[in-house]
Amino acid sequence: MQWYQQLFDNFAVQYERESFVQGTVGEVDFLEQELSFDKTKTILDVGCGTGRHSVELATRGYSMTAFDLSTDMIQKARKNASGRGVKVDFSVRDARSFRYRKQFDCAIMLCEGSFPLMETDEMNFSILKSIHRALKPGGKLIFTTLNGLFPLFHSVKDFINSHDSAGQNHNNSFDLMTFRDHSDYEITDDSGQVKVLKCNERYYVPSEIRWLLLSLGFTEIAIHGAKLGAYSRHDTLTTEDYEMLVIAEKAKI
Ligand SMILES: C[S@@+](CC[C@H](N)C(=O)[O-])C[C@H]1O[C@@H](n2cnc3c(N)ncnc32)[C@H](O)[C@@H]1O
Repeated sequence: MQWYQQLFDNFAVQYERESFVQGTVGEVDFLEQELSFDKTKTILDVGCGTGRHSVELATRGYSMTAFDLSTDMIQKARKNASGRGVKVDFSVRDARSFRYRKQFDCAIMLCEGSFPLMETDEMNFSILKSIHRALKPGGKLIFTTLNGLFPLFHSVKDFINSHDSAGQNHNNSFDLMTFRDHSDYEITDDSGQVKVLKCNERYYVPSEIRWLLLSLGFTEIAIHGAKLGAYSRHDTLTTEDYEMLVIAEKAKI
């Protein structure tokens, strides 16, 4: 089992306590602007986790389809939707190879919802490819992903010695040949069991993202800094941004 499967197995309750998932309302405010507040638009949430963006969008009147690789996260997402009295079409699927009969007006993939967690670059690319297939011509993709400029500018040495907001040092090692960060991540799952996971995450530089999207037939590509709870097209991406916000459209022909 890969580290990202182990991580999200029996972790849904703890996940919702993480500091980085507290900005949902502000993030959805931004998504609504990108959708021009048009509630007829159909939205697909890729790697939806416990469904925080999908459920919030559904409460605001949007038609939501959402999936995740983790059965456990989807179970919690279903509970969250029924708790808020909304319907979301949740299912368990793999972002690398999913297919729906219909196409969507918009796809979101937020907070590393699958891309860039895969163990090979080809797998990460297949996620973007599957999303491209799932979008209508002119459909919009909005995602956030790890910013490769951050570890570069902060020097790999500082980065690998860094501590997270909880003071945990993750024994990182950043590989400059692959732009992959290997780290030990300690979590306590929902049963109170402590697990140490060997994580492997890919940091992309903006020019790579642009090229990947162009090669798939996306246009209107915009890359910004991603501030938790406050996504904005006014944020220029800098070396201080840990994540980037990417917006692109599937070409119309
Ligand atoms: C950090 S969480 C983000 C969840 C959600 N988008 C959010 O903003 O809270 C990453 C999610 O990606 C899911 N995931 C990882 N690999 C996946 C894959 N290949 N296909 C679908 N989901 C995947 C995980 O199960 C996890 O729920």
